[in-house]
Amino acid sequence: MRRPAVRAVASVAVLALALWPAVHAGARAEDPPVPAATPDETGRQLFVTGCSSCHGLDGRGTNRGPTLEGSGAAAAYYYLSTGRMPLAGDEQPKRKDPPYSPEQIELLTEYVASLGEGPPVPEVDPSHGDLAEGGVLFRADCAGCHSAAGVGGALSYGGSAPPLTGAEPKQIAAAVRVGPGNMPRFGPETLDDEEVASLVRYVRFLQTAPTPGGSRLGGAGAIPEGFVGWVFGIGACLAATVWIGAKRAGKDRA
Ligand code: HEC
Ligand code: HEC
Repeated sequence: MRRPAVRAVASVAVLALALWPAVHAGARAEDPPVPAATPDETGRQLFVTGCSSCHGLDGRGTNRGPTLEGSGAAAAYYYLSTGRMPLAGDEQPKRKDPPYSPEQIELLTEYVASLGEGPPVPEVDPSHGDLAEGGVLFRADCAGCHSAAGVGGALSYGGSAPPLTGAEPKQIAAAVRVGPGNMPRFGPETLDDEEVASLVRYVRFLQTAPTPGGSRLGGAGAIPEGFVGWVFGIGACLAATVWIGAKRAGKDRA
């Protein structure tokens, strides 16, 4: 091939490369505009994919999951933000990292809320609460199941109350308003918003309370902690007695 031909081919190639984006954009502009999915549709899509196998295509429930009519945003937020939904098996829902992003949780929550009237996601500001009042309310209404230290415990009729160590303020308030699973529901007629703020403040306090008296031993309560005291405390005394006895026996023989 002669030189000018090479040059001609090269310049055609360069020209084609330079024009490509323009041609491409032109082709794009002629495509019919694709409407972006509305938030409602995205929420419904997420629901159909992740939830309808148990709650039904319309959220009215199946034999694997209850109807969500009237569950409200508070319940959806509680179950989704704590990773309890989508449920994996048949056991009691457990807290785990949610598979959905915060935006997806918001869309799903709006979709569930649209199925029927229910409690809204509570707004809570723990700094407006009173710590002492929160402590009184917690010991009266919550400690029976979640233990005085908030570390949770088994329930006499099966299942367990989870530890409160990982719960965020909005999740604590939502749990109080929803009453998930075996937990009772505390509506505004039982605990007003200020009392809920006090409770949340107290639970946050339990989550961060220092332990000047040494190890909390899991904070599991007087009986297990007493047991540890018996086994290790009295065990240590026995060991010391045996050791002293052995020393004496050695001396007496000498
Ligand atoms: C494998 C089945 C299953 C899947 C999948 C599932 N759920 Fe559930 N869901 C349940 C069961 C069972 C309960 C009842 C749990 C309980 O009360 O402890 C429940 C309870 C709920 C509740 C509380 C209802 C109420 O008012 O008490 C909400 C809200 C909820 N699910 C939302 C969802 C959403 C949103 C999804 C999808 C991301 C989802 N679930 C996926 C089985 C499922
Ligand atoms: C009768 C026992 C009982 C009582 C009383 C009770 N709870 Fe619960 N609580 C439970 C059970 C059971 C669950 C788990 C429910 C589920 O399956 O999602 C729970 C869940 C929670 C959670 C979610 C924890 C997490 O990290 O995911 C919070 C927060 C909570 N409760 C706070 C409270 C507060 C605050 C009170 C007092 C106003 C209270 N509970 C009273 C039994 C109880």
